[in-house]
Amino acid sequence: MREGSATQAYLEIKQSGVLSGTVSVSGAKNAALAILPALVMTNGCSRLKNLPASADVVHMLQLLEELGASVTFDASAGLADIDTSTIKRWRVSPELMRKMRASVFVLGPLLSRFGRAELSMPGGCVIGARPINYHLENLARMGVEFDQSGDVLCAHLVCPCPQRLVLEYPSVGATINLICAALSISGQTQIVNAALEPEVLDLVAVLQKMGAAIQATVPATIEVVGGRELQPVEHRVMPDRLEVGVLLLAAAMSGGSIKLPDAPAYSLDLFLRKLEDMGHLITRGNDGMGVTLQATKVPRAVSFTTRPYPGFPTDLQAPMMAAQCIADGTCAVEETVFENRLVHVRELQKMGAQITCKGSKAIVTGVEELYGANVIASDIRASSALVLAALVARGRTSMTGIHHWRRGYDGLEGKLCQLGAQIVLTESVLSSVAEDARPQSERSY
Ligand code: UD1
Repeated sequence: MREGSATQAYLEIKQSGVLSGTVSVSGAKNAALAILPALVMTNGCSRLKNLPASADVVHMLQLLEELGASVTFDASAGLADIDTSTIKRWRVSPELMRKMRASVFVLGPLLSRFGRAELSMPGGCVIGARPINYHLENLARMGVEFDQSGDVLCAHLVCPCPQRLVLEYPSVGATINLICAALSISGQTQIVNAALEPEVLDLVAVLQKMGAAIQATVPATIEVVGGRELQPVEHRVMPDRLEVGVLLLAAAMSGGSIKLPDAPAYSLDLFLRKLEDMGHLITRGNDGMGVTLQATKVPRAVSFTTRPYPGFPTDLQAPMMAAQCIADGTCAVEETVFENRLVHVRELQKMGAQITCKGSKAIVTGVEELYGANVIASDIRASSALVLAALVARGRTSMTGIHHWRRGYDGLEGKLCQLGAQIVLTESVLSSVAEDARPQSERSY
């Protein structure tokens, strides 16, 4: 590489025709990001199977190593062995905290193991303010004291006490942290209005295998009886319903057909119903596992509103919106989970999409054709929406911001290529700003 230059990676996506075939589904990134920190509460070697090699998962493994765990990860086999008996630290460096939002999921497990934790504010997708007040207020009720200086938060479990906690909103992250903190506190803690996303329930299944007394009850409550010693586990991470959503939409938008034998159909009820409302033919496996889709040639526009599970998943809002851009008619898309999650609209408009926004609502009118453009992925789920749009857009699309794509998905471009997509990862050499600022005539390369 030239001195004073850097490389920029981007995805180059060509209009790809009909996408069809059978593919396997990776492990769920969001389940892995809840389960990995929970291993901190054990003392010994656990084995996780079907662990996706997305960048966020790799960062979480690095975070565990920073705490002192010993990790071996065979990314191609999706197999990780994690020995937590060597964990000695309860402080996470700001560098790792900044890498992703889910770094904060280690707060509860560290409090459970050490009664202490030292973290800074987490990074992650910029899709809203994303405060952690529900985590902190409820940990305080359980006896945790906080000392914040600048960006650094020190937490100390001073007088552990089991509680009936009531969440104002079923926050996934707060539910994960509160469950883990409660596991070290003798007596019963109840988390009312808990998030019951399938990824949270995969964590609950892991904790039960560890020996924890934990169960989900009605109405949307998680009950934890803490104080038991937790054992290392072997667990197969659940398949990624969000990857399933993108693969189904890829086939649907291109007029193709797809078979996903290991898709968790049970976790996508409303999303699958919306695909059926569009006119696509969906077949579910008998035991709730496995989905096939046969696309209609004339998809109808359908409106949808995002909600906590089992509502329409916010993480499929952007990809589903991409499908509405070429559907017949007009629909309304409302985002209620995050207040700033329509940033992909601007990029879809560059590709010819007809969308108008008012607050957190978008009105989408389907067009005959999208066309290729240079677009920027602003967050994980925006990246998959843009890839989906690009696969049906006339010509060629370049998408930068692909670190978001890599954070969220494990080799998804390979799976799409298996179905017939034309996607290439490209690196180009960029001149440094200083060099670029000079007039052409003065450049010396
Ligand atoms: C998790 C998922 C993310 C998904 C989201 C909602 C992971 C790694 N990420 O994110 O992919 O989109 O659930 O399904 O699993 N809130 C507060 N205060 C809090 C906590 C949350 O106001 O203390 C708000 C958030 O700003 C947001 C809403 O509650 O508006 C939902 O957030 P939450 O469910 O906590 O999402 P995450 O755990 O960050």
